[in-house]
Amino acid sequence: MSARHGTFRLQRGETTPPQPSLLSSIEGFRADVLLGLAHAPKAIPSKYLYDRAGSALFDRIAQLPEYYPWRSELGLLRDARDDLARVVPPHAHIIEYGAGSLLKVRLLLDALREPATYVPLDISSDWLIAAGKQLASDYPSLRVRPVTADFSRPCEIPLPPGPRLAFFPGSTIGNFVPGDAHVFLERVRSQLGHGGGLVIGVDLKKDPDILWRAYNDAAGVTAAFNRNVLTRINREIGAGFDCGLFRHYAPYNAHDGRVEMHLVTDCTQAVHVGGRLFCFREGESIHTENSYKYTIDEFRALARNAGFFPSEVWSDGLFAVHYLKAN
Ligand code: AVI
Repeated sequence: MSARHGTFRLQRGETTPPQPSLLSSIEGFRADVLLGLAHAPKAIPSKYLYDRAGSALFDRIAQLPEYYPWRSELGLLRDARDDLARVVPPHAHIIEYGAGSLLKVRLLLDALREPATYVPLDISSDWLIAAGKQLASDYPSLRVRPVTADFSRPCEIPLPPGPRLAFFPGSTIGNFVPGDAHVFLERVRSQLGHGGGLVIGVDLKKDPDILWRAYNDAAGVTAAFNRNVLTRINREIGAGFDCGLFRHYAPYNAHDGRVEMHLVTDCTQAVHVGGRLFCFREGESIHTENSYKYTIDEFRALARNAGFFPSEVWSDGLFAVHYLKAN
């Protein structure tokens, strides 16, 4: 049996991670981890992959030769410049969801006609301060108004009247299960109002071999990114994970249309986590991330169901950037 197929079996329909708790910071992290490890199958919400070390590892993933989404999306945003200038009204207020790349938002800002405001919305205030300072000095006529918030939850975005443009690059929408993606898109649509639109990057369904290489890179950076969540649990919650006893496994689950990241143990073991003992069977996994892939039509249908009017799409066959109108 090849490494790709491994000995670990996906449990269809049982792999949706438990809902993250409403608690914040360390308390919430602890509660979510204990809940997730008590769940069958075991799972940890993917948002916990992004501590400082995890975010740095993700930046390295983005530059890997096998990880095409980053490069594809940059190329598509460059190609879409003239179209974006045409379809987005002038003086737009831009809201970016999540710790985005300054490079990508710059492409957008450069394309648009006199963008008025940029609101980066992120849970990490470090990133927001850096993003705010850099953009404000490079775009003197742009108002930069960072908001510290978890974008996956409802939040108020204070903005003056005028057209709003939401920006959600990177196919982060793929890290939501479709029901949560629907709820998120509905919320974004209601935040946009009249004349608003959403520019969103979405990874496409494709040859599973390409997906395998993108999530199982030869240099092992994605494996380190995945295992880092155990290091984080050891440090922040107090746990005894031996990271070397968990192997990275990221197959494409064609039935559900998603790449899944798992940490699989090849031996029976018991681990203390936050004062509790969790037993692992040989071959058992902790499900750490879903990355859903959508055809262009599937994503347009999802957007339509959430109240958007799908408009332009730019694609290179690997990745798609959609422009969705709010009304
Ligand atoms: C952030 N997110 C869109 C990435 C993805 O492709 O789902 C995270 C990632 N996981 C492994 N590699 C990259």
